[in-house]
Amino acid sequence: MNIAAELTLKSLRSHHRAAGPHYRDALVTACRKAPPPFGTKNYEKTYRDVARDPNWMALSLIQNAQGEGEGSGHLWDLAASTPDAHVAAQIKAHAIDESRHAKAYVAMLDITFPDVVDNGSRAQLVSLSPGYTQRSPLEAHASSPYASAITLDDLIQMNIAEIRTLVHHIIQRPMLLAYCAPERRRRLALLHDRLRVDEARHIGYTATLIEEFAQRGKADAVKRLMQERMSDFNAITNEDLGRGAFEPL
Ligand SMILES: [Fe+2]
Ligand SMILES: [Fe+2]
Repeated sequence: MNIAAELTLKSLRSHHRAAGPHYRDALVTACRKAPPPFGTKNYEKTYRDVARDPNWMALSLIQNAQGEGEGSGHLWDLAASTPDAHVAAQIKAHAIDESRHAKAYVAMLDITFPDVVDNGSRAQLVSLSPGYTQRSPLEAHASSPYASAITLDDLIQMNIAEIRTLVHHIIQRPMLLAYCAPERRRRLALLHDRLRVDEARHIGYTATLIEEFAQRGKADAVKRLMQERMSDFNAITNEDLGRGAFEPL
């Protein structure tokens, strides 16, 4: 089995619950037919090579914060536009997680590279997070392209993006810890591990919703879309790799 598929199913077992049979089958088949580059040794090696530069690592944490913040806003619009209250609540919780992650990446930047950020730019960086909480009014941004009810296709794309984020997270951990002063390393590891548990949960709830679609007569669409979107994602990841960029969602 492909490494990315294996890791996903393992993380679902330990952090969520075992994947449903349709989801599992669609994921394993998609990873076999369109093997994700982020599940390869070469991806890891390319990451390690670029991450040897501390400036790159610091900048990538800022990009991570930005990516999480933007993703959070998109999820918020999706949640606000999804009529099924049970599903919308889960997307809203996801948006709140990603909003918190944007702040967590700024905190990790501070812990790892304490001299990089001055007070002025810290405030700017923290504003990369929309700062959502359960009490924030659930309304979509005006004319947002994400302001529509969530579809099976959206869920599959989110699921694959979250798998890539999880893999990225696992590769990032030792490199980041190595940059951190020993007395701050424990705090950094705790923050980083908490994010990983969240990402595993994001894979988990989207996998469950995908399984529900499959059980309601969409099993063929699940299989087809998983493969199609995996191929699309692979092309994007290869492009990112060429630019030395590793952007989580
Ligand atoms: Fe995240
Ligand atoms: Fe996530």
